[in-house]
Amino acid sequence: MGVSISTLDAIAAARRRMVALCGELEAHNRAYYEQDAPTVSDAEYDALFRELQALENEYPELQSPDSPTRRVGGRPLDAFAQVTHALPMLSIQTETDTEASGAASFDARVRKELELAEDAAPVAYLAELKFDGLAVSLRYEQGVLVQGATRGDGVTGEDVTRNLKTVHDIPLRLKGEPAQIPPLLEVRGEAYMRRDDLARYNQKALACGEKPLVNPRNGAAGSIRQLDPAIAKSRPLRFFAYGVGAIEGWTLPATQDELLTALAAFGFPVCEHREVAQGAAALAAFHERIGALRSQLPFDIDGVVYKVNSLELQRRLGFRSREPRWAVAHKYPAEEAQTRVEAIEVQVGRTGAITPVARLRPVFVGGVTVTNATLHNEDEVRRKDVRVGDTVIVRRAGDVIPEIVRVVMEARPTQPQAGSSTGVDGSPFLPYELPKTCPECGSTVVREEGGTIVRCSGGLVCPAQVKGAIIHYASRRAMDIEGLGDKLVEQLVASGLVKTPADLYALTLPTLAGLERMGEKSAENRVAAIEKSKDSSLARFIFALGIRNVGESTARDLARYFGRFDTLQQADVETLLKVPDVGPVVAESIRDFFAEAHNREVIDRLREAGVRWQEGEGQVDAPPGLFSGKVFVITGTLPTLKRDEAKALIEAAGGKASGSVSRKTDYVLAGSEAGSKLEKALELGITVIDETTLKDMLGQNNA
Ligand code: IVH
Repeated sequence: MGVSISTLDAIAAARRRMVALCGELEAHNRAYYEQDAPTVSDAEYDALFRELQALENEYPELQSPDSPTRRVGGRPLDAFAQVTHALPMLSIQTETDTEASGAASFDARVRKELELAEDAAPVAYLAELKFDGLAVSLRYEQGVLVQGATRGDGVTGEDVTRNLKTVHDIPLRLKGEPAQIPPLLEVRGEAYMRRDDLARYNQKALACGEKPLVNPRNGAAGSIRQLDPAIAKSRPLRFFAYGVGAIEGWTLPATQDELLTALAAFGFPVCEHREVAQGAAALAAFHERIGALRSQLPFDIDGVVYKVNSLELQRRLGFRSREPRWAVAHKYPAEEAQTRVEAIEVQVGRTGAITPVARLRPVFVGGVTVTNATLHNEDEVRRKDVRVGDTVIVRRAGDVIPEIVRVVMEARPTQPQAGSSTGVDGSPFLPYELPKTCPECGSTVVREEGGTIVRCSGGLVCPAQVKGAIIHYASRRAMDIEGLGDKLVEQLVASGLVKTPADLYALTLPTLAGLERMGEKSAENRVAAIEKSKDSSLARFIFALGIRNVGESTARDLARYFGRFDTLQQADVETLLKVPDVGPVVAESIRDFFAEAHNREVIDRLREAGVRWQEGEGQVDAPPGLFSGKVFVITGTLPTLKRDEAKALIEAAGGKASGSVSRKTDYVLAGSEAGSKLEKALELGITVIDETTLKDMLGQNNA
């Protein structure tokens, strides 16, 4: 039988397409793995990858030996030493079928490979989460962490030991009886970042004028692949173990589930969301359950992973080039989508910070319709070069505010659009510039010196800032005025009734009852709530003032230290710096706040209105204690002292008692049955003392 011309044409076309796909995927791999700067969304990458895979299946003879489908990822950075994995770090095949059928097709493949009869019992699987971070391998010799590596191309990775040692979740030494510690154990898992940790980190980064992290996955990957371990240390990285690599002198348990339990016993965090599932239906149920839970999880996942639970069956199933036959990743719909920027507007926050926000053509992503995305600040807009009219990729991660990942540059016209010349007024496709005046009050905006934050200079002339200040003043953790919600504050500010928090105390029942949508009864409740808020505490009052950089815990520290409001108000920077945890930035914010005549006037009026609190002695003049500045952690049962008593002794000597052991801990006071905190202390080389030693130390002080 001859080969027809049309077949030859088809082969030639396939070859051309395959070469093009290989080149494209290689470029994306480099961008993703080597620069941590993805150029396409996961979905787009997956589509290209699958197209290439399909062609290679159809024309196996055309597959190039170094096709991206044969490799796991990008090559390691030159700057790190290379590590050849004792056992390769594999990838997982992705099941793209929907709910039930995804689990069913995996189960069917497994049953076929194992040659199980139709009526044989269901296969037991372990269903896990697919964490969205960076895969790493940790090598423990005689129980000590000697090497940590990235996956790299699966065979060779990067030596990132120094960075991984800064991750608190990763034990530096395995837990357990010496006899139980294997001579060699490689633990594999995912380094990741929690969304709340990332948000907190970004807030700080932005306040310091540093670049925020784009998302948890890039945050984790970028942090671990930092050449300077100090940077990795400053990032809130965490770790989940999900498997093992090379092992010597240790008998593996019978199942994946028991393996995870054993890893937990060695001191590794293992995710609580895992389930032994009998058969395909149970897997599909897990997929659905986790799908519903996904947005509430504190970290990003991009799917679930099903693994054959029995390690013996795993061995029988073996591998197929880059992937094990006993595992599959079942993904969720992409949390990235493409849409258009219809406008860029700015929002004015409580402290006057001006944040650009992109108004988007509504798009369904990660389970919700997204219409806005934060652009953080002007530098961020410039860096991403987002312009009105652009086609953009938006990403939504759980409860994090949606953000623009990147502009699809190919979709932007090369010529600026006709009829727009300035480019600063929202005209399409011209570089964006922040307005020069506040959209709320018309005051000029100023860029903080050396920082990225731009603020409205209007202060309390600006309704947005007044509104924010009042909402903050009334909030639960500040003066706790029940019923004074955002809507009511907006009404009060818009009507001119309230310009400062002090005006709240001048509101009368008839005034409130006269407001639109306000009943007599609710007006009475509001008046009562405002009256009740007059009885407060010094810490709450300080917090309620909304001094920049003074959060709830700093307010408490200030109240404890100064005892009296007037002493705080008169304190100079030097005195402020003596307060625990107050640094130069906070000290200056406080000084600036009280230097402002307007603020002093509002405070006077608040006190005249009857706002009061208990004043105390404070510690301003207290002599520095023996333990001043020292941080203690108490763990276990002490022979004679109760925990509270020990804490009181430490605090009386100027020390601080903290709940968890970290590198900042100076002493761990340990009693009997001290558990993980003691371990951690030993791991970190922190001085451990017992009750007698504590008393000795204090006794010497008294002598
Ligand atoms: S097992 C032999 N389990 O998915 C299979 N991988 O592997 C080896 N991933 O980037 C991996 N969660 O880091 C496994 N529960 C989990 C996982 C998981 C996330 C990542 C892994 C790698 C990718 C492919």
